[in-house]
Amino acid sequence: MAFTIAIDGPAAAGKGTVSKAVADHFGFAHLDTGLLYRATGRRTLDGTDPVEAARALVAADLDAADLRTPEVAQAASRVAAIPEVRHALVDFQRAFARRAGGAVLDGRDIGTVICPEAEVKLFVTADDDVRARRRLAELTGKSIGTTYEEVLADLRTRDARDSARADAPLKPAEDAVVLDTSTMTIDEAVAAAIAEIDRRRSADAPESP
Ligand code: C5P
Repeated sequence: MAFTIAIDGPAAAGKGTVSKAVADHFGFAHLDTGLLYRATGRRTLDGTDPVEAARALVAADLDAADLRTPEVAQAASRVAAIPEVRHALVDFQRAFARRAGGAVLDGRDIGTVICPEAEVKLFVTADDDVRARRRLAELTGKSIGTTYEEVLADLRTRDARDSARADAPLKPAEDAVVLDTSTMTIDEAVAAAIAEIDRRRSADAPESP
């Protein structure tokens, strides 16, 4: 049976970590849709046309080692503002979302555009300062040299571009539950997400005769 969990939110709010943990908990497949835009953006850095790059994307591109760099993140957010790029990536995401056995997709427009019919929609967010500190720790852990100021500027530039674009801007779906993780540990954020999903699953379950 298909069951889709849409998890959206700004950069470094914790949605990737929450999504992976939720997918593991329920035994669902997980797609980090940011990787589609990062893989597309990465190809444009060597001069490839963004729309051609999106259309030519293959699964192996999502495994490239350097997709997490700030340079690729900025390229991702630039190509993500091009409607033809977004259009080229829609079918893959929708097919993934409706696969048998359940799916968790995280991104910016999953609850609003890709899967408006998702059974559960979460919007995971956190204060800028908290997000910048978390992303700095993540990048430093991967030996990617940067500073707090650079990380904060990167997040704010991307959030502004992602929120202002005409096509599929970053915003919570009207029926999304907002999860502010600013003062939560990872375990607390995951527990809150699982509690919300359990609540929705039992509300949707057919009543026993
Ligand atoms: O989630 P992540 O930070 O990896 O996303 C990189 C960029 O890809 C975002 O800044 C955003 O511009 C774009 N993106 C998007 N829609 C999605 C997922 C990511 O526009 N569903």
